[in-house]
Order: sequence, then structure tokens, then C-alpha cells
Amino acid sequence: MATRDILVLYYSHTGAVRQMAQLVARGIEKVPEMRARLRTVPRVSSVAEAVEPQVPDSGAPYAELRDLEECAGLALGSPTRFGNMAAPLKYFLDTTSSLWLKGTLSGKPAALFTSTASLHGGQESTLLSMMLPLLHHGMLIVGLPYSEPELMTTRSGGSPYGASHLAGVNADQPVSEEERRLCIALGTRLASVAMRLAP
Ligand SMILES: Cc1cc2nc3c(=O)[nH]c(=O)nc-3n(C[C@H](O)[C@H](O)[C@H](O)COP(=O)(O)O)c2cc1C
Repeated sequence: MATRDILVLYYSHTGAVRQMAQLVARGIEKVPEMRARLRTVPRVSSVAEAVEPQVPDSGAPYAELRDLEECAGLALGSPTRFGNMAAPLKYFLDTTSSLWLKGTLSGKPAALFTSTASLHGGQESTLLSMMLPLLHHGMLIVGLPYSEPELMTTRSGGSPYGASHLAGVNADQPVSEEERRLCIALGTRLASVAMRLAP
């Protein structure tokens, strides 16, 4: 069987969501024949003339629309910004109208992950609001079931709506063991569903 890619598309400013993306990717690659394709998006600026370089200095390449076309599923990760996803990711999603018109993403599975500074700072609202554009695209949302025991025992991140992490006010909290397991479980679940749905 041909290898299939799952797009792990994320934005991260201070590194927490990037770390989660790598764990989700690890979970994806536990499923035979499934491969994670890590992509990020450039920052956006209120200064219209300011542009990012075409290729990032380090880390994952910037996403293109063809990444969404080619992949069998999507894991979307963003820091929480005022209870919602970060603007750079929203900006990229706002360029996907041509895919929406063609129904390119319709029927593909998607999963969400986020990181916050504070425990009740909006992890769940961010995960839920990140689902909205994906539902408009006809994507099938994959969450985390309570058969994952860490959902009951976590003292920081982790939600049935997706993976999450409490990074702390100084962005210095390591990904806890429960958060780590749930990121991996989310990637594995997404890739398993994609495998079952793929033609
Ligand atoms: C403009 C802005 C808004 C933020 N809003 C929230 C928020 O609503 N709740 C929260 O807990 N943290 C908030 N944060 C903190 C980030 O979500 C948190 O530091 C996150 O872990 C950053 O992820 P990253 O390291 O991948 O960039 C905000 C940060 C910024 C810069």
C-alpha cells in the first residue's frame, strides 16, 4: 500500500505548540504506512509592508495549499490567543476558499491541539473554535475518547476536544507525561481514522 501523509499544520511563537506537533507526528507514524508532514505558517504583521522570508530560517517549511490537497488528514495546532486560534493560522485558513469550492477537504479527518499560559485560559474554547472552519470544509473531527486514561488523571492539559498543554505564564512548563501521551494518542487516532477512510 502507498504511504499516506497526514498534514501537521501548526503555528508556534515560543515553542510549546511546536513540541506538541512533534508528539502528534510521532503518534501518526505509529500507524503503518502513515507519515506526518510537518508544516508551519509565517507570522502576520500589522505593518502591511513587512514580509517574512519565503523559507523559514529553521524548523518546518511553510504550508502551501497543495499540502492540504495531498494529505489524507489534518492535525491543526495553535497557541491560544484570547481564547481563540492565533492570527497567522487563521490567515492561512482564510486563503483556502478555492479548496472549499472544490470540496477538497470534505470527508477527510482532522484533529486539534493547543497550548495556553494559564490553566483555565481557554484551551477548550480554542479547540472548539478551531473546529469551525474545518467543519465548513466538511472535515470529520476526531477527538480523544475517555478510553485514554490520562484524560481522567491529568492535572494540566488534555481534553476530549483535542490535545492541550499548560505552558505556564513564563512558558517554562515542560509537556507533562499525560499531555505527551495524549498528543501521541491523538496523532495515532487521526492516522488510524484516515487509514480507514482513505479510498
Ligand atoms: C496575544 C496573546 C494572547 C494570548 N492569550 C492567551 C489566553 O487567552 N489564554 C492563555 O492561557 N494564554 C494566552 N496566551 C499565552 C499563549 O497561549 C501560551 O504562551 C502558549 O503556550 C504559546 O504557545 P507557543 O509556545 O507555541 O507559541 C496568549 C499569548 C499572546 C501573545
